[in-house]
Amino acid sequence: MSIVDVINKKRLGYALNNEELKYAFNNYMRGNITDYQMSALLMAICINGMNDEEIYYLTDIFINSGDTLDLSKINGVTVDKHSTGGVGDKTTLIIASIVAACSLKVPKMSGRGLGHTGGTIDKLESIPGFKTELTEKEFINQVDEIGLAITSQTGHLAPLDKKIYALRDVTGTVESIPLIASSIMSKKIASGAQNIIIDIKVGNGALIKNKEDAKRLSGIMKKIGKRYNRCVETMITYMDIPLGTSIGNALEVIEVMDILQGKEENYLVELSKALASKMISMGKNITVLEASKEVDEVLHNKKAYEKFLSMVKYQGGNIDKIKVSSNKKEIISSKSGHIIDMNAYEFGKLSLSLGGGRITKEDKIDPSVGIVLNKKIGDDVKKGDVLCTLYLKTDVSDVEFDINNYYTFENRNSKKAVDIIDTTVNKEEF
Ligand code: URA
Repeated sequence: MSIVDVINKKRLGYALNNEELKYAFNNYMRGNITDYQMSALLMAICINGMNDEEIYYLTDIFINSGDTLDLSKINGVTVDKHSTGGVGDKTTLIIASIVAACSLKVPKMSGRGLGHTGGTIDKLESIPGFKTELTEKEFINQVDEIGLAITSQTGHLAPLDKKIYALRDVTGTVESIPLIASSIMSKKIASGAQNIIIDIKVGNGALIKNKEDAKRLSGIMKKIGKRYNRCVETMITYMDIPLGTSIGNALEVIEVMDILQGKEENYLVELSKALASKMISMGKNITVLEASKEVDEVLHNKKAYEKFLSMVKYQGGNIDKIKVSSNKKEIISSKSGHIIDMNAYEFGKLSLSLGGGRITKEDKIDPSVGIVLNKKIGDDVKKGDVLCTLYLKTDVSDVEFDINNYYTFENRNSKKAVDIIDTTVNKEEF
């Protein structure tokens, strides 16, 4: 067998068998296949897709490339959550704190930014001292003690996915349902939680652009979960506009703390509550309504906020030292009107270009850069108002910003309903 034969077979649209997938991916792991050959194979997969069997094989290959965690040492019920990625998506930090404050155990393995979307680990690394690489022992002990730990994908868990993930990020091969399904599910299975909720983001700012693809992803993830005897639930949520009021690593952590202290009420808060309620209902076997009461309580009495702070402290972070750039540029509106749309994808790309994400594998992120959205969908704007504030690297003097790429205005007084959560898909049987 040769790698060129495997690439050609996929390029021509044929399904690969287990042997061929193992040959290509395991040899890439061992360094016997180059980045450019793997990039070609990934691109062929992106273009021609994979059938369910191929996705199962690939998930198995990722899982078997490393260790699997045995969470049985943890006292209590484990629940895990993953998002397929969005712009300004800081829900993991909010939800994990809420769910742990409701006495469930949240062992969370997270990723870095991918393409124009942000990643939880990059956000946490904006907190000086925060350790994102925990050993298995540290991870399990921390979850057992405080109910919550967030670690990056350690070299031991699905390491092949880690290597492929970094390559996909810089080769235009992120937006592929088979690759997303096998990447996420291999990490979830390897990191051991019994109950898993996946937030499938759909829209222009997401990796999945339409609802049909989101449904297929939901179906295949549930099937993979079943094969490994895990309870997997999905929610399909919209990502056409950035989530919350900030984009950028340190800025988003600060926003998380505001939310956990009850300082913000918006659709991000509603979405986080909905996801957390679903996780708690799965973990405690209670109704979503009962779970939502617990969520409100731990937000109200600040137990969720305290949980977040105790995780930061446990992992060595000093939250008082978190810094945003002092080099700010306010974007002033050149027109008046009512904001009826915002383009999450453009905002994601802007954050990336400010230094908040990676364009090559070697790029270093600047955690202090980003965007604060002073005006959001549904707001009325007057000429001269500040639309958003850019936090630039200290050595950058200016950035071009054409407001028409980011905001859509209308001169009318009606508000567009922002339909953020669509749970109907979950009622379907896959
Ligand atoms: N998150 C992941 O972990 N993998 C993907 O492929 C996409 C989002």
